[in-house]
Amino acid sequence: MLRRRRKDVRVMIGIESLAFYTPEQYLDLKTLAAERNVPADKYVHGIGQERMAVLPPDEDIVTMGAAAARHAVEGIDISTIDTLMFATESGIDQSKAAAIYVHQLLGLPANCRSFEIKQACCGSTAALQMALALVAQNPAKRVLIVASDEARYGLNTPGEPTQGAGAIAMVISTTPRLIVFDPESGSYTEDVMDFWRPNYLDEALVDGKFSIQVYMKALEESWNEYQRVSGRGYQDCDYFCFHLPFTKMAGKANRVLARIGGASRTDEDSILASHVDSLHYNRLTGNSYTASLYVGLSSLLENSPGNLTGRRIGLFSYGSGCMASFFSGVVCEDYQRYLQGDRHHAMLERRHELTYEQYKALYCHRLPTDGSEYVIERTSSGPFRLAGIRDHKRIYESNPAAVEHVSAPSRHEVAV
Ligand code: CAA
Repeated sequence: MLRRRRKDVRVMIGIESLAFYTPEQYLDLKTLAAERNVPADKYVHGIGQERMAVLPPDEDIVTMGAAAARHAVEGIDISTIDTLMFATESGIDQSKAAAIYVHQLLGLPANCRSFEIKQACCGSTAALQMALALVAQNPAKRVLIVASDEARYGLNTPGEPTQGAGAIAMVISTTPRLIVFDPESGSYTEDVMDFWRPNYLDEALVDGKFSIQVYMKALEESWNEYQRVSGRGYQDCDYFCFHLPFTKMAGKANRVLARIGGASRTDEDSILASHVDSLHYNRLTGNSYTASLYVGLSSLLENSPGNLTGRRIGLFSYGSGCMASFFSGVVCEDYQRYLQGDRHHAMLERRHELTYEQYKALYCHRLPTDGSEYVIERTSSGPFRLAGIRDHKRIYESNPAAVEHVSAPSRHEVAV
């Protein structure tokens, strides 16, 4: 009997929607520089940061993640969301996943599995790679990925100006509207102590200069693997998004990539042009660990003046400790119709500036650890808030004072 040859039809899988959220208050890095007796140029130009987002007491990774996710699932049939993965390195519980709270706040169906995933800033990309496999297996299903973090270092440490906070949410499906992922990726893992946070600390420990060296090594190794499996070179990517602990990192990384990837043009202008639009949002939010790479992707898609349809974007995800991945995707036709840029610009424009004293008070604020009843005053105007603690349980609620960001202000111009 003649067996019919199975046709090798590859399902297109990618990002159907992408939204990000950052809290509504920030510290200007010039204020921090003055307080630390450091030239402001070091923060603004040396590390490439203008502002850092600061969480109010009634927001955390859950409220930020749910706020982003609410917009990512707009217009999507939530009964098709099969899985919710929550990536973070600012976990609020050793056992219960932050995903479960988001599942409840969004009213997702009970048959949607929900769990947390961790490997420093790369946890979101590990979630994405798992989502691609899940959707390939069940093409009718969607996966919702939430990545949410507060980047915290010690006061008056070199890491302090690279703090920040934010979340992204993206829906992965066989009906991508923004990016279709290439099947190839290159990963790299090595046991190193460049950045970590023991359970008993609220802020990360970091060997700053060493962490940059490890980031670069992981970039080279994962790029080499990506190039080996895909056969693509530097010129095959039109744009790049890098994990952004601070925005100057992108230039350092892109220069290395241009050299090892065999770029035909290695002048500063050409290199800058291929990543500069990915930096706008991160300059204003600071590091958001797991969310950072995808905040950069959102910035690139929403702030590039040209039409990116059909352009390939190379993405580099780095998680200290360390694990890294280089992968790529191609921008979908009509992607501009599905972007949330107006909302993101409105959210960033609406934020208010903190004084140094207000920042320090918020930095030092701690939730009780004895389980005693604690009611948190309403300060956030995000869609969800942490209302308090009772019997060691966090209480979340929809925020009656929530402000919708729908208007489209002028684009926030920033120097890079
Ligand atoms: N005007 C302009 N530029 C100036 C300047 C001035 N007045 N003064 C200094 N600079 C420049 C320096 O030349 C330097 O530039 P290059 O890197 O291009 O040489 C830059 O400003 C930073 O100066 P320093 O290296 O002296 O800064 P530092 O020692 O105070 O700390 C840091 C920098 C190591 C990044 C520190 O902020 C830090 O530890 N951050 C946290 C760790 C981190 O972000 N690591 C990144 C890799 S790990 C990762 O990616 C995972 C993650 O999310 C954490």
